[in-house]
Amino acid sequence: MSKPKTILVTNALPYANGPIHLGHMLEHIQSDIWVRFERAIGNKVVYVCGDDCHGTPVMIKAASLGITPEEMIERTSKSHSEDLKGFLVNYDNYYRTHSEENHKISCEMYEKALKKGYIITKKISQLYDPVKNMFLPDRFVKGTCPRCGAKDQYGDNCEVCGATYEPTDLKDAYSTVSGATPVLRESVHYFFDLPKAHDFLYDFIHNTGVLQKEMGHKLDEWFKEGLKPWDISRDSPYFGFKIPGTEDKFFYVWMDAPIGYLASLKNWCDRNNVEFAPFTDPKSDIEMVHFIGKDILYFHSLFWPATLMAADMKLPSKIFVHGYVTVNGAKMSKSKGTFIKASTYLKFMKPESLRYYFASKMNGTVTDVDLSLDDFVARVNSDIVGKVVNLASRTAGFITKRFGGKLASAPYNAEILSLVENTKDKVCEGYESRNYAEAVRAVMELADEANRYIDKEAPWVIAKEEGQDDKLQRVCTDGLNLFKAIITFLSPILPEVYEHAKEFLKDDLRFEDVLKPLYDHEIEKFKPLYSRIEMPQIEKMIEASKEDLKAAKAAGAPSQAASGDYEPLSPEITIDDFAKVDLRVGTITKAEEVEGAKKLLSLEVDIGFAKRHVFAGLKAAYKDPAALVGRKVILVANLKPRKMKFGLSEGMVTAAGPGADQVFLLGVDSGAKNGDRVH
Ligand code: 2FM
Ligand code: ZN
Repeated sequence: MSKPKTILVTNALPYANGPIHLGHMLEHIQSDIWVRFERAIGNKVVYVCGDDCHGTPVMIKAASLGITPEEMIERTSKSHSEDLKGFLVNYDNYYRTHSEENHKISCEMYEKALKKGYIITKKISQLYDPVKNMFLPDRFVKGTCPRCGAKDQYGDNCEVCGATYEPTDLKDAYSTVSGATPVLRESVHYFFDLPKAHDFLYDFIHNTGVLQKEMGHKLDEWFKEGLKPWDISRDSPYFGFKIPGTEDKFFYVWMDAPIGYLASLKNWCDRNNVEFAPFTDPKSDIEMVHFIGKDILYFHSLFWPATLMAADMKLPSKIFVHGYVTVNGAKMSKSKGTFIKASTYLKFMKPESLRYYFASKMNGTVTDVDLSLDDFVARVNSDIVGKVVNLASRTAGFITKRFGGKLASAPYNAEILSLVENTKDKVCEGYESRNYAEAVRAVMELADEANRYIDKEAPWVIAKEEGQDDKLQRVCTDGLNLFKAIITFLSPILPEVYEHAKEFLKDDLRFEDVLKPLYDHEIEKFKPLYSRIEMPQIEKMIEASKEDLKAAKAAGAPSQAASGDYEPLSPEITIDDFAKVDLRVGTITKAEEVEGAKKLLSLEVDIGFAKRHVFAGLKAAYKDPAALVGRKVILVANLKPRKMKFGLSEGMVTAAGPGADQVFLLGVDSGAKNGDRVH
């Protein structure tokens, strides 16, 4: 091996205002596997993470819980650390951005940038909540989309038509903190002059190989649009660090978040007597590797390197970007119970099952990774239990019972053992390039070959034959040596099984010795190393995730009520205004899916004196359209017919709820007849 490298590896810092869920776990597992592999091949890695503590959402969540942000950070940090440990993610340091180290490094970096002319100030107008006396981040303003008229859209983009805009463009805007109508206020903000760093950034992201090739398109879009100064300040009240030289300006959370990587490292260095300076020195050959999700690419490939460059510090060597987690092919959903918290998963399942499944699907690209629950159960059972553990369990017994636990002094079939060498190359290449799927495939091919060999030689048959002891011992030794290689290859993914395998084989199972089989070597009695997953465990986990949602709502966690997230009341109307809307009782007589429409159902509604054909956005909420037939509903009967792509819609069925699968049809008490008017 070439000279061992020293690498600082970071994982994106989870926000301190929410629990770790399986979406986060994809990245923690991905980085942990990579770190374990790098260490296994002899590199020196410092692996850090921590909580991202600053910003308005943290401040508001703490207030809603009636505690200080510091208290909330303390609680969250504990539960995040436990969850990560539970998944065998082995950080050298799990720290926090709200720390002395981070404060110091952030101020130093800012002051350097200031000295070098990268900080500019500008007066800007921003929406302000006159009740809470605070400026409102885009996400805390809602209103009607200026483009399509959809209600209740966030201040930066419309989830219905995809428009992006300024919060000031929203119609009927309201603060989600207090419900008040925001007013425009001016304030001086501090900006990092990103355009001044244009040439540096262009070179950094195009010519250094820091990013995966497939990121190229996204990056070119940014340069085509033109870089803009980055607003790094926020006004009080804000939970964060005060900007040096100001009275009431704070660093925007994204300014000190990535600096939190270095703060976590510094804290670790100080506690372990390791020199920190070489990690930030541009001249040192230490590498800095960030694992991130595709949603935060902009921050890590533009703002972060620009601030490092301005502070004359070492730049990232690699930014490894991954996609999102979907469950059963869809976005994780709280109501479906597929928004699964790490702690909930761990109540029902072993961490290594998820580590293995994610690994078997991670290919080093930014494509999303689907946790298909049926496939998850099948794959874990068939691969870990059926192929890997089984290989040991069907051979170890003979060694213990017939040979006093001692392996043979030579192989029976040296050829089968030589397959390990070829597998090793594929495994190393797969891990190094984060194409874990490739590594897993290669290991499972080896496991299949090994099991076929044992099937063919059938030690349980040899065991009954006279004078075949030598053959029996050698065949079983071959099986166990193949098991040794397989478990060593899988050690970055299955660290606990690996530890147990070490005890069982009484060997360190070092990666560098993977091609060296064990002979004349004593082993322990075999104990089952892994158990199957049964479907009821999955069902219980989904149910528990639904319960988590209910509990969070009851506790007022970022629930709609706690954040004042009700749609505000529309302006007052008279009874005459209301009379203009002709609402009629009707019965759904037909309900069908619409070909090519993602959200709509086609309904026929009988309103006594007429039948109306209506397209309604109910598909996600009512999966079985036939079950709607016969239901009484309230129809807006005098709505101007609307020509849609799929046909004419002659009215609107009334329903409540925020949308998607949370839509609830309004019902009618028995006795009302089709055609009756609602007064
Ligand atoms: O997107 C997020 O969850 C952020 N808390 C990630 C921060 S990563 C780093 F920059 F701190
Ligand atoms: Zn819109």
